[in-house]
Amino acid sequence: MEYLKFCFVFSCWVKFALCVFSTDTPQPPAAIPKEKLLVLTVATEETDGFLRFMKSANYFKYNVKVLGMGEPWKGGDVGRSIGGGQKVRLLKEAMEALADQEDLVVLTVDSYDLIFAGGPEEILRKFQQANHKVLFAADGLIWPDKKLADKYPSVRSGKRYLNSGGIIGYAPFINKVVTQWNLHDNDDDQLFYTKIYVDPLQRHTLNMTLDHKCQIFQNLNGAIDEVLLKFGTNLVRVRNTVYDSLPVVVHGNGNTKMYLNHLANYVPNTWNYEHGCSHCDDDILDLSQLKEYPNVLVGVFIEQPTPFLPEFFHRLLTLDYPKDKLKVFVHNNEVYHEKHIQKFWEENRNVFNTFKVVGPEENLSQGEARNMGMDICRTDVTCDFYFSMDSDVMLTNRQTLKLLVEQNRKIIGPLVTRHGKLWSNFWGGLSLDGYYARSEDYIDIVQRKRVGLWNIPFMAHVYLVKGSTLRNELKERNYFVLGKLDPDMALCRNSREMTSHREKDSPSPESFHMLRPPKGVFMYMTNRHDFGRLISTANYNTSHYNNDLWQIFENPTDWKEKYIHSNYSRIFTENVMEEPCPDVFWFPVFSQKACDEIVEEMEHYGSWSGGKNEDKRISGGYETVPTDDIHMKQIGYEKEWLHFIREFISPVTLKVFSGYFTKGYAVMNFVVKYTPERQAYLRPHHDSSTFTINIALNAKDTDFQGGGCRFHRYNCSVASQRKGWSLMHPGRLTHLHEGLPTTNGTRYIAVSFIDP
Ligand SMILES: *[C@@H]1O[C@H](CO)[C@@H](O)[C@H](O)[C@H]1NC(C)=O
Ligand SMILES: *[C@@H]1O[C@H](CO)[C@@H](O)[C@H](O)[C@H]1NC(C)=O
Ligand SMILES: *[C@@H]1O[C@H](CO)[C@@H](O)[C@H](O)[C@H]1NC(C)=O
Ligand SMILES: *[C@@H]1O[C@H](CO)[C@@H](O)[C@H](O)[C@H]1NC(C)=O
Ligand SMILES: *[C@@H]1O[C@H](CO)[C@@H](O)[C@H](O)[C@H]1NC(C)=O
Ligand SMILES: *[C@@H]1O[C@H](CO)[C@@H](O)[C@H](O)[C@H]1NC(C)=O
Repeated sequence: MEYLKFCFVFSCWVKFALCVFSTDTPQPPAAIPKEKLLVLTVATEETDGFLRFMKSANYFKYNVKVLGMGEPWKGGDVGRSIGGGQKVRLLKEAMEALADQEDLVVLTVDSYDLIFAGGPEEILRKFQQANHKVLFAADGLIWPDKKLADKYPSVRSGKRYLNSGGIIGYAPFINKVVTQWNLHDNDDDQLFYTKIYVDPLQRHTLNMTLDHKCQIFQNLNGAIDEVLLKFGTNLVRVRNTVYDSLPVVVHGNGNTKMYLNHLANYVPNTWNYEHGCSHCDDDILDLSQLKEYPNVLVGVFIEQPTPFLPEFFHRLLTLDYPKDKLKVFVHNNEVYHEKHIQKFWEENRNVFNTFKVVGPEENLSQGEARNMGMDICRTDVTCDFYFSMDSDVMLTNRQTLKLLVEQNRKIIGPLVTRHGKLWSNFWGGLSLDGYYARSEDYIDIVQRKRVGLWNIPFMAHVYLVKGSTLRNELKERNYFVLGKLDPDMALCRNSREMTSHREKDSPSPESFHMLRPPKGVFMYMTNRHDFGRLISTANYNTSHYNNDLWQIFENPTDWKEKYIHSNYSRIFTENVMEEPCPDVFWFPVFSQKACDEIVEEMEHYGSWSGGKNEDKRISGGYETVPTDDIHMKQIGYEKEWLHFIREFISPVTLKVFSGYFTKGYAVMNFVVKYTPERQAYLRPHHDSSTFTINIALNAKDTDFQGGGCRFHRYNCSVASQRKGWSLMHPGRLTHLHEGLPTTNGTRYIAVSFIDP
């Protein structure tokens, strides 16, 4: 009988073996249906990270059960010290009810710093391929007990050590693991799992292994260089380039949270090339549906002499937002700007709900001032938003504040950049030691080739914070004293992030206050619209009378906006130009402000030549047809003036003297003053120029009477001079001309002899 039985078993085995080996394509085990996958995660609070996790889980239709919500967290500060035992305890409790479901697959993952990049079918397929009952995430770094390294089985390739941020296994087996837990909530979960795993007997009987080659789990700690974004038509994945895998679970463990934030700006479907931003309209606050607009405290920080400050304030005034909903707090650190603020205050103090200024006499540090602004909103329960704006931010988009409020995020800033440069108000990346790092998408975001809402690590210059966020996540005051602004601040607890080196196109923490997201809060930057620009405050010389005139090089866009006639560009688009006499062209070039400020600058300088023939300012020292004038050179404006000619006059010559292009070489550049009391007219003369420009700097009949220019050959006069308009005419031979008498008041013109 024994023999027969053996024989039966033997033949049976042989048959089975034959059967197996004779089949060309062995049938893979039936796929586990996706209903059999249950995701368990522990989260005690609905942080931004948790909500992001849930969003990615819902996108792939995972069945998720959250453990511990609302419980106080007792698991320690995971990531910095050991802890996390509470997670195992909660899991152990949850597994008791699931232990006998043999075909249930449980996936247990962290949630604050983790996202899904693929769906349940894929996870289950890969789990089946791993052919084990329990699979842990793997890590190249060992934590927390380095002494256990030798006890790990060696691996030929792949990551050797266990990471407890991700575990997948059959319910009865997971249960057998976690049921061994008898430690405290603040004991270390990873150490607990590690000890079970490195025990050869347990490893065998519980049929455990690690996901050595990141088929399912990608831990980013120590692995940032391994991963790339892989853009598909609908999905964006993370690709592990070392193992050529597409991990399904991406975990920003250790200090890689900021890097995960970067990946999650794309993964799984946050942004891609096909559809752009998919989350941008989530949670929008529709202002048109509100009875009243939210109250905003606007904090304005003038921490250094800043060009175009009156224009900055003008933009604040013209923001499209009900002004009675705006309270304004200004910190002005510069005596130089007191006159600008005084003027604005006198004209507009009643426009806003309140307008409060803290001046230089208070001697506040930048950090103190910024905290003060935040505190005003924090301690006022009616303050819905705090809008912080540095004086170098030119919001050209009047909708900016509305758009930011509507975006309804805890912290959000609009992208502003230095005109035509890569310099912006945010950092896209952060190196692991907290220094500035350029993210791979930085340039595309700055140039708005990728448009959306970006979760970023650092921001400066302009941002909107919810009042409720200030009163909750940011209630700890002085959180924002950041910046290597003075040696004392090196002691501040966040200083590590701020001691960054300077990179050419990055905002520098040495000179800018930067905002860093508080723990658990995402900070967004939007480039969905063109919001405005950052102006340069470098090389701002405030020793002139109207200093912005000198900004033509440093801030050309703002200079043009302030000083060039608003119809100037229509010369080229609509031929806005007149020819009052043959070959005498007349066109708008200067704004009223430019005219006023140049005249003021000259009168401030005051040393008019008196119209004498002897003139030490010119070569030869003798002027045959002298005017009562001041040369641009005398006020230190020669370089700027010649640049103005190149930028704004040359294009006009090209147009009217068909193809004549001047490089703007001009030796005589001056402002002439005509007044009956001194010199009222100029006798007929030729100019020592190829052509001459003659810009009227004030208005006939308002500022003076008479005046004008008469061209003899054609018996033709231009008598009705228009402020800000320039005459342009050939200097020699054909265009003998004279300055007609000014009969009352004072007339000013700016003249250049070009290409002499
Ligand atoms: C582990 O489990 C798989 C099936 O899930 C089985 O095929 C394999 O033989 C087991 N390994 C060990 C060492 O028990
Ligand atoms: C302003 O503060 C700085 C540093 O706190 C101090 O050195 C300086 O003396 C103060 N100046 C005045 C005028 O109080
Ligand atoms: C600022 O302008 C004044 C007056 O033109 C000049 O004397 C001074 O050198 C300038 N300062 C700098 C730093 O350029
Ligand atoms: C520009 O031209 C338009 C149309 O001719 C005119 O109405 C407007 O006043 C001009 N702007 C200025 C600043 O002169
Ligand atoms: C010049 O024009 C004025 C009118 O515009 C006319 O009275 C005068 O006779 C003209 N002179 C010459 C020399 O043509
Ligand atoms: C000169 O201008 C002043 C003020 O603009 C005016 O009061 C005066 O009447 C003018 N004189 C003549 C002669 O037009």
